[in-house]
Amino acid sequence: MANLVYLNGDWLAASSAKVSVNDRGFLFADGIYEVIPVYQRRPFLLNLHLERLQRSAQAIGLAIAPLASYQSLVTELIDVNDSVDGLVYLQLTFGADSHRNHLPSQPLTPTCYASISPFNVRWDIPTPVKVATMEDIRWLRCDIKSTSLLGNVMLKRACQQQHADEPLLHRNGRITEGASCNYFFVKQGRLLTPPADHLILAGITRTWVIELAQQLAMDVSETPVFLDDLMTMDEVFLTSSSREIQPVAQIDDIIFHQGQCGPVTAQLIQAFHTSKRHLIQE
Ligand code: PDD
Repeated sequence: MANLVYLNGDWLAASSAKVSVNDRGFLFADGIYEVIPVYQRRPFLLNLHLERLQRSAQAIGLAIAPLASYQSLVTELIDVNDSVDGLVYLQLTFGADSHRNHLPSQPLTPTCYASISPFNVRWDIPTPVKVATMEDIRWLRCDIKSTSLLGNVMLKRACQQQHADEPLLHRNGRITEGASCNYFFVKQGRLLTPPADHLILAGITRTWVIELAQQLAMDVSETPVFLDDLMTMDEVFLTSSSREIQPVAQIDDIIFHQGQCGPVTAQLIQAFHTSKRHLIQE
């Protein structure tokens, strides 16, 4: 199957797509991105992803094209690759300068890159994962979906060394998020998740899970959660566009629900699958 990517107006084989060494994305990670799941040729929650792209662009002062043009780009990307289930990566940087300079020396044309990768979509309950708590070493604007992911990658590597699937990050004991996901906790029937402030990325899956929980008449609270509270939690799960809802069996030495997916998590996973089915049947 063709694997064509979009780069600044051209459709190219991924191996032929080249970005300048003077691109600010390469030199300074001066850019933003989105990851959008596609189920049966249909992008999921595309408007929410594009609105977040706009918020990220505004936060870094990057002028981007009207959102409708990214909507068409995503549709074309799916069509030209004849993709069924996929993950769209949309990356925007401030573009290539004539030389390295912290501040651009001239007005630049932003670089726009889009690709789609295969996505193994799950319709069952995923196996619960193990996570490890770690101090959040990243910057203080994690609400911006920036391509500057060095902190996230370092934390993922440290986590791998501990044979854990994902870090659970905290700042002085206050839980933030994962290196590439958000966290939810179930305590006495209530669903808790850290507030969408500057310390976390407001995940689109997170927003959708809150919406589904409300539709199911669950009691949901966006509230600070602390490491000290973990012992009192009945269930834990993580969310992201690529992992949807994943149950957490264990955080460090604490095991939740005997290492099995709990009932509230399972109910939300089923509701999530139903919402995917609705999208496909629309
Ligand atoms: N990561 N927090 C961080 C730091 C993330 O990188 C992500 C997503 C999330 C969840 O956001 P969403 O539900 O919108 O995917 C939270 C994507 C999937 C990635 O980098 O591949």
